[in-house]
Amino acid sequence: MRLRNIPGAREEVSESRFAVNLPAEQRGQWRSLFRQQYPDGRDTGEMPLYIEVGMGKGRFLTEMAAQHPEALFAGIEMYESVLIKAVQKLERLEEQGVLCPNLLLIREDARLLPDLFAEGEVDKIFLNFSDPWPKARHAKRRLTSHQFLERYGKILKPGGTVEFKTDNQELFTFSLEEAREAGWEILVNTRDLHHEPALMEGNVMTEYEQKFSAKGNPICKMVIKMTNSHLVDNGTYLW
Ligand SMILES: C[S@@+](CC[C@H](N)C(=O)[O-])C[C@H]1O[C@@H](n2cnc3c(N)ncnc32)[C@H](O)[C@@H]1O
Repeated sequence: MRLRNIPGAREEVSESRFAVNLPAEQRGQWRSLFRQQYPDGRDTGEMPLYIEVGMGKGRFLTEMAAQHPEALFAGIEMYESVLIKAVQKLERLEEQGVLCPNLLLIREDARLLPDLFAEGEVDKIFLNFSDPWPKARHAKRRLTSHQFLERYGKILKPGGTVEFKTDNQELFTFSLEEAREAGWEILVNTRDLHHEPALMEGNVMTEYEQKFSAKGNPICKMVIKMTNSHLVDNGTYLW
């Protein structure tokens, strides 16, 4: 999703209290930063941290943050012209008295994830309807390529998971293959999520999921887990 340039979007995003400027400075300290978001200064040190990569306009994350006050959420989006929609959504919610202290937004290219989060800092990564990049020479840009899986492995805690939804069958096949080849354990693998009641429990629809399922496209979902084979004996990472 690449919206046309929106004049002033960069300034509006960088001035918003929901967006984190200089996110690399928070590496290893995200839970402390979240603590400052809570009026009661609650202890966020043990709360799980979930991130969505390629969050788009933020429907999924704002809903997840509201449904799961026990967790912290950070959304990563490459374009201000898209992220601005999520910022405005949070501002509207705040005007209505709905606070989302457990949600922060980051405008950054996900290739830099290991510069933004420390080893093992993240509990779970969500990827929703990631851009397919159909040309083979662009495969490494796909957010489920082995290059990206390696980045995720660096920031996930041992046993952490990646949850991926898409309606793109080719991208889904590619993603399963990349995960298997990179030694991830496949926990969930369905090509018709919306007809799997057990998997639909707690499912939050993204903007793209609403759009494509309304057209009748089946939705695929994969959940993969980092395995111990990604760690060497002293608990550090193989990558
Ligand atoms: C097709 S949209 C899906 C949006 C949303 N997740 C949904 O399901 O409705 C994919 C989003 O990922 C973002 N994106 C793609 N590559 C990215 C990267 N390397 N880093 C951060 N965001 C990225 C795009 O800008 C776009 O907004």
